[in-house]
Amino acid sequence: MKLAKAWRLGMKDMQILPPPRHRGHQLKKPTWILVLISLVCMFLVVAYIYPPQTSSACYIFSSSGCETFSSWLPPPIREFSDDEIASRVVISSILNAPPIHSKNPKIAFMFLSPGSLPFEKLWDRFFQGHEGRFSIHVHASKEKPVHTSRYFINKEIRSGSVDWGKISMVDAEKRLLANALKDPDNQHFVLLSDSCVPLRDFDYVYNYLMYTNISFIDSFEDPGPHGSGRYSEHMLPEVEKKFFRKGAQWFTMKRQHAVIIMADYLYYAKFRDYCRPGMDGQRNCYSDEHYLPTFFHMHDPNGISNWSVTHVDWSEGKWHPKSYGEKDVSEQLLKNLTSITESVHVTSEERKETMIMPCLWNGMNRPCYLFARKFSAETLETMIDLFSNYTSSSLSSSSSSSKTGERDS
Ligand SMILES: *[C@@H]1O[C@H](CO)[C@@H](O)[C@H](O)[C@H]1NC(C)=O
Ligand SMILES: *[C@@H]1O[C@H](CO)[C@@H](O)[C@H](O)[C@H]1NC(C)=O
Ligand SMILES: *[C@@H]1O[C@H](CO)[C@@H](O)[C@H](O)[C@H]1NC(C)=O
Ligand SMILES: *[C@@H]1O[C@H](CO)[C@@H](O)[C@H](O)[C@H]1NC(C)=O
Repeated sequence: MKLAKAWRLGMKDMQILPPPRHRGHQLKKPTWILVLISLVCMFLVVAYIYPPQTSSACYIFSSSGCETFSSWLPPPIREFSDDEIASRVVISSILNAPPIHSKNPKIAFMFLSPGSLPFEKLWDRFFQGHEGRFSIHVHASKEKPVHTSRYFINKEIRSGSVDWGKISMVDAEKRLLANALKDPDNQHFVLLSDSCVPLRDFDYVYNYLMYTNISFIDSFEDPGPHGSGRYSEHMLPEVEKKFFRKGAQWFTMKRQHAVIIMADYLYYAKFRDYCRPGMDGQRNCYSDEHYLPTFFHMHDPNGISNWSVTHVDWSEGKWHPKSYGEKDVSEQLLKNLTSITESVHVTSEERKETMIMPCLWNGMNRPCYLFARKFSAETLETMIDLFSNYTSSSLSSSSSSSKTGERDS
């Protein structure tokens, strides 16, 4: 339909195109121009219907010329399957429904851990005095946790095993979301690991997450081997390579987005089946790094921040991020982490392109991070000693400090 319209429009444009400079003198010339333009137009339409890689038209251009050529044209509209239509209507209905306001809005803190949480005592300090404004949910996949904080007692949900990089990681995240969604007061959902520590006090975190309308989900395009290189065409037609995104799994999510994830099976199944370690023999894909970043990039790109509020240090360039030990932890380190106001993404290509984005909170420059990982258990006592020192700035005052580069203590 669109094609026919475009064609008709094209014809209309063409008829007014040739400037009748020598009107009356030469009738033949405009006719020839018309024929020539018609031929070019026909050629364009044919090339549009048969995309360059399958068309003989491609041989006329060089392969790079082909790409440029196809990028001039609007992308052909693909007809959605029944499942996609159903899925899209559910997603847009949830997104467009007015948010349900709770009298007592809470934040759900969801911990993914093999067993006991080494920083319970630090989190205890974090939660103290804020009863009724949060809920805690623990997914302990290996051992029953031993608790050191009263806030965590009986907060374990029924868990399943979790294998690094496999879909069971996403399943655990969904299990936590489902349990946390049962409480209608929960408006924002935070995923944390056993090695995560808070970088801010409770009020700061609460205000940062509650008084914005986006989810803090990391999502960026990495054309390299650890990004789009993990994409498999088995994900077609629903997930096209150009939509494939990457991001750290540690999200915070508003309620609508959490409900959408509960409703999604179509895209989930694509990632479960075709984004896994050992895909196509030797290609490794990790659903927990791609499913949510890709899903939200496709369905609500403006509803996500594109960076994670959980800081992690990849600067050592190893397979695992830097783990902070006792010797690393100091007031200066924590002040450094809390004063970062730009998020950095590095692609996995050989040239390692670096993309730097200011962290915008409701359009204003603000520090990027609320939490950090990976902290080893031995740092617990130092972190508790330092807690009130490094968490002492408020969200409203941080704008001036981020501008001057100084910190108010
Ligand atoms: C968030 O709110 C701002 C204004 O308050 C609005 O411009 C923006 O479209 C909203 N974004 C979403 C994803 O709802
Ligand atoms: C996140 O990235 C997408 C494009 O990938 C963009 O449309 C969106 O505006 C970004 N989100 C924010 C909050 O800037
Ligand atoms: C903190 O940041 C400063 C300036 O970037 C740097 O020189 C210093 O080594 C950092 N300190 C720690 C403990 O990370
Ligand atoms: C916390 O800050 C105070 C005042 O700035 C300082 O005296 C104290 O030594 C700091 N505590 C730690 C554990 O660094």
